[in-house]
Amino acid sequence: MKFFIDTANFEEIKEAHSWGIISGVTTNPSLVAKEQNISFHDRLREIAELVDGSISGEVISLDAEGMIKEGLELAAIAPNITVKLPMTPAGLTACSTLSKKGIKTNVTLIFSANQALLAARAGATYVSPFLGRLDDLGQDGIELVRQIAEIFAIHEIPTQIIAASIRHPQHITEAALAGAHISTTPFKVLAQLFKHPLTDKGIEGFLADWNKKNG
Ligand code: E4P
Repeated sequence: MKFFIDTANFEEIKEAHSWGIISGVTTNPSLVAKEQNISFHDRLREIAELVDGSISGEVISLDAEGMIKEGLELAAIAPNITVKLPMTPAGLTACSTLSKKGIKTNVTLIFSANQALLAARAGATYVSPFLGRLDDLGQDGIELVRQIAEIFAIHEIPTQIIAASIRHPQHITEAALAGAHISTTPFKVLAQLFKHPLTDKGIEGFLADWNKKNG
């Protein structure tokens, strides 16, 4: 499973990118709205220059024509831009049109296996099931990833699964085991993945022994 980072904050992206683990970035209108003093397109351009991988920028139109127009504008920003589209009939019309033009697409707000199958058949490069938001309702987000992975495997569907709405480290392990190709993860959770008390204790012990001997 690859790691994407789920943020529009450039400082977070730069830091996570410096760790050598990031294969892409996802943004959404709520994440972009948190950013000050920079336009959406300029931020996407900046990210696309730094990260050599898929950079998702989401459309805000609700009709297919508007989504296609926005999608073409987003795709013109950089060759690694992926157009993020909502899981609606209009979103899939736009997905099909943009995919046929060779533009990468990410169908977002997936909450059922049938939605993922529809998006895949509309030519989506990626589908994004939202684990955390399903868990919030008492449903099993990981089980959804497992179902989608199984359906895509049975039918040899090349669409990649991005486990999204990740809330904690356990989601990462479970999404990887359930067959997600990618997880898109907030900076805070990525940073938590490094931590283990025995790692810290081990480093302390090695340094203490070294200093005892070498002063
Ligand atoms: C995915 O592409 C979305 O940007 C994101 O994962 C949504 O997560 P949230 O449920 O924490 O808002």
